[in-house]
Amino acid sequence: MSGQNRIRVRANGPLLCTGDIEVYDDAGRLLEKSDDVALCRCGASANKPFCDGSHRQAGFRDDGQLAAATEEVPEPAGGPLKIRVQADAMLVARGPMTILSVDRSQAITRNRAALCRCGHSAGKPFCDGRHRRHGFRG
Ligand code: FES
Repeated sequence: MSGQNRIRVRANGPLLCTGDIEVYDDAGRLLEKSDDVALCRCGASANKPFCDGSHRQAGFRDDGQLAAATEEVPEPAGGPLKIRVQADAMLVARGPMTILSVDRSQAITRNRAALCRCGHSAGKPFCDGRHRRHGFRG
């Protein structure tokens, strides 16, 4: 693995993003710039897009493994990972990143990813479009 931006999938919990992380709303306004951000992926947080611990009450279940096959591609050199929160839909991450399963046994390195934040995708942690079927609002 290369680069410094990481998205680690927590079992039954949020996406833990570390590195040079910038989070923007759907209008392009900066919501957070940090080296450590926990983003909701269960859809239940009252403080979306950030995790507020609601996954426990919501009974969110996911094993924290990556639905896609492990892949390793050259990661673009440096730079921030910009995560844009799409209204009523997914998180779109752009920039160098490595996505890690909960136990770090799987890793995907890329520079673009659409990540589920509604909790309903069958391909977690990635969005598969089910937010529409479930009428996700956020
Ligand atoms: S945001 Fe969950 S399936 Fe798209």
